[in-house]
Amino acid sequence: MRLTVQPGNPLRGEITPPGDKSISHRAALIAALAAGESRLGNFLLAGVTRSMLDALTALGVTWELDGATLSVQGVGLTGLRPPSAPIDCGHSATTMRLLAGALAAAGIPAVLDGSPGLRRRPMERIIEPLRKMGVPVSAENGRAPLVFSRREAPLEPLEYALPVPSAQVKSCLLLAGLAAGGSTTLTEPGPSRDHTERMLHSLGVNVVSAKRSGSLSYTTCLAPPRPFSLPPLKFTLPGDISAAAFLIVAALITPGSQLLLRDVLLNPTRTGFLDALLAMGADLRISPAGERQGEPLGDILVLASPLRATHVSGSLVVRMIDEFPALAVAAACARGQTVVSDAQELRYKESDRINAICTELQLLGVRAQETPDGFTISGGGSSQGESSGRALRGGEVASHGDHRLAMALAVAGLASSEPVTVQSAEILSESFPDFPAALKSLGAQVQVEHG
Ligand code: S3P
Repeated sequence: MRLTVQPGNPLRGEITPPGDKSISHRAALIAALAAGESRLGNFLLAGVTRSMLDALTALGVTWELDGATLSVQGVGLTGLRPPSAPIDCGHSATTMRLLAGALAAAGIPAVLDGSPGLRRRPMERIIEPLRKMGVPVSAENGRAPLVFSRREAPLEPLEYALPVPSAQVKSCLLLAGLAAGGSTTLTEPGPSRDHTERMLHSLGVNVVSAKRSGSLSYTTCLAPPRPFSLPPLKFTLPGDISAAAFLIVAALITPGSQLLLRDVLLNPTRTGFLDALLAMGADLRISPAGERQGEPLGDILVLASPLRATHVSGSLVVRMIDEFPALAVAAACARGQTVVSDAQELRYKESDRINAICTELQLLGVRAQETPDGFTISGGGSSQGESSGRALRGGEVASHGDHRLAMALAVAGLASSEPVTVQSAEILSESFPDFPAALKSLGAQVQVEHG
């Protein structure tokens, strides 16, 4: 699919983003491990969550979709059945790493595999600590496929320091820890997203997290429930702030725009991007509106704004780890040089995002420079009032098989002198299939060509 976005029209209106991707994954999997029927409203219907749902089917779990409401019949930990074939996790690292934790806890034999892109993602980061717990799992060169043998011995308690902050690794180990013979204690050098902890806590599991005083690290401790039993989940998911990020940048860089985003996740481990944009001078009006299943949410009003450059490093990187493609487009339209550092992890995402962001923005005429742990972008925003976006000249760019890169580049078209066409843009349906329709409904000129 080729996705073309034309410069110009202001974006106006309101929209509720699709259900949060991270929470959708966790809710589907934890619902499967619970007892009884769970009901999840505003569940994300997209490629990556389809991978999780198909995996659950392969493990003998039944579920049903009615529009965006997902019902799951929980089977408990001991109810998961060994799959008859390798489970295909598609492009979804979250599916693979979270399922690995659940399989470790269940102790059943299974193979987890995925697309060529997923086979390139690092899995040693879960294999090593799972093995410390006594999980019989192997993977050649620390890459998928992951092969789990039947586990007879009980799982050991784990005390482990993650070398890099990662919610997928942390969640994998917490899920495995549900079946361990004692507590799981994890230390991370930064505040990775805490949805697993919040969800398990809301279901009565003893799990606590705290920042270590006098250090930059965070510790999470989970005591396994005895006997193992989780009540079902019944809630409507908040909108995905990482999907909203593209629409927020779209409105900020298109003069005359005014956009209201409703019921967006406002968990502080995910709102780093809003903080970065506020530091850039973005006119964002955030109205918190309570919590759902332990997750804060609210509305965000976005007004087109002249932006200035910023520096992003340290724990802010962790709190906006998925938002760098969107940030890069905002930076290209800002005044001054934006610098991102401490962000080596971006090289291990759906693409090497440091390289891919710089390569594609350069094609659009932006001065974007790679560094080992980030990038610098010299923006073309005018110094008086409105962003001119003159650094962007439009053209044809590639998605690198990365849904977030595809959407960020499409948004760049709004502030370019000529249209931007994203090749192989179908990958965006991994996380936000309605993205082109959403942009269109807000007034953007968008063309989709299939084939
Ligand atoms: C996710 C965690 C992050 C993020 C990914 C989703 C999650 O990955 O990039 O899109 O749902 O736990 P890491 O844990 O590898 O940082």
